[in-house]
Amino acid sequence: MDYKVRLLERADLNRVYEIEKECFVNPWKFSDIEYELSGNPVNKFLVLEVEGRVVGFNDFMITFNSATISQIAVTKDFRRKGFGTILLNEMEKYFPNEGDDVVENVTLEVRASNEPAIKLYEKHGYEVVVKKPHYYPDGEDAIYMVKRLMLCR
Ligand SMILES: CC(C)(COP(=O)(O)OP(=O)(O)OC[C@H]1O[C@@H](n2cnc3c(N)ncnc32)[C@H](O)[C@@H]1OP(=O)(O)O)[C@@H](O)C(=O)NCCC(=O)NCCS
Repeated sequence: MDYKVRLLERADLNRVYEIEKECFVNPWKFSDIEYELSGNPVNKFLVLEVEGRVVGFNDFMITFNSATISQIAVTKDFRRKGFGTILLNEMEKYFPNEGDDVVENVTLEVRASNEPAIKLYEKHGYEVVVKKPHYYPDGEDAIYMVKRLMLCR
């Protein structure tokens, strides 16, 4: 399958919002996604295009020595084809790896019931650090995970 991963553009916003609603229990508002494009100075928002159509994304932030995945998603019809993996790997290409701001850790929170995502992260070197009880508005626990890049290099 022909695919490419590139930075979010304004023309992608409607499609990304559709994916957001398909993939998340508490989807972000359109304006939240728009903020990532034009208002958030530390984030990077990657979109995955397959056969010319956006079918996934990875929105992450880099602050000093740490990166945080805010949201990653692949539409249902394109799952288990390796695209989540591609989005994680492409993210790491954006990490500075010299100078003072070398990214040492990647962190994230994931719903405790989200087995597909937890399995994806574990497969790619993320470890469970702690459970955050009742983290989500509906009361579900979050699992806080970290990938320590210095150990992976
Ligand atoms: C999590 C998500 C991004 C994974 O995307 P994906 O494209 O299916 O991931 P990949 O195909 O790269 O999967 C890589 C590995 O993750 C694990 N995995 C992915 N989906 C899985 C599932 N449903 N059950 C068990 N393991 C799973 C497997 O180890 C898989 O490797 P394998 O297919 O060789 O067995 C996708 O399921 C998704 O968009 N979910 C909804 C949004 C979401 O929950 N995002 C995470 C919020 S923190």
